[in-house]
Amino acid sequence: MKIISAGLFRSVYSADAIPDLNLPHVCFIGRSNVGKSTLINVLLQRKIAFTSSKPGRTRCLNFYLINKKLFFVDFPGYGFSYVSKNERKGWKDLIEKYLSLRRFRKIAVMIFDIRRRPDADELGMINWIKAEGIPLILVLTKADKISKNNLDLQMMMYERLTGLSKDDIIIFSASNRMGREKIWGKIREAVYLKIEERRW
Ligand code: GTP
Ligand code: MG
Repeated sequence: MKIISAGLFRSVYSADAIPDLNLPHVCFIGRSNVGKSTLINVLLQRKIAFTSSKPGRTRCLNFYLINKKLFFVDFPGYGFSYVSKNERKGWKDLIEKYLSLRRFRKIAVMIFDIRRRPDADELGMINWIKAEGIPLILVLTKADKISKNNLDLQMMMYERLTGLSKDDIIIFSASNRMGREKIWGKIREAVYLKIEERRW
């Protein structure tokens, strides 16, 4: 997709502040520091999402409006230990409330550090998203940090643990942009469906 315009539209701290525009949402979900904002910037070929070496900086849902046609939603990182239990619960409530809203077409992009094994929380989230019927792809990022052999092994592990098909698990690296086109292909697929349904 050619990016004509992209910018922060709104930072959302509670479900009632979600923009009420009839546009599809691409949701970027993953643990702190996994590379969500970096992935968004690579997809858009510009630095609009805030990245940092300090994990857990994003504390809200950041809505970026792309080409006035769709939203990219940058989720706060989760599972971060210095956040109080209450804060963590508030976060989980916001995300689940938002994701379960039926009135927006959504695709969930869950991001993992390819070197890690998904934990019980993450597998729980995957199952929850599947059960909600939201289209889901996994992006295994930081692929530049491991060997080709290990890429294949990790890929197989993710397939086995999540039950997703190879086609829905994409290996990515911000440093060489590996996987970028494939991710766009999946986003397009999810977004165009809606466009056809609604005859935009
Ligand atoms: P929070 O907003 O805190 O949840 O973090 P985030 O998931 O948005 O992560 P962010 O994009 O800020 O990236 C975290 C760190 O990982 C930064 O130092 C990035 O430069 C680095 N990083 C992200 N993607 C890659 C990648 O593909 N390869 C390498 N080598 N580093 C990466
Ligand atoms: Mg971020």
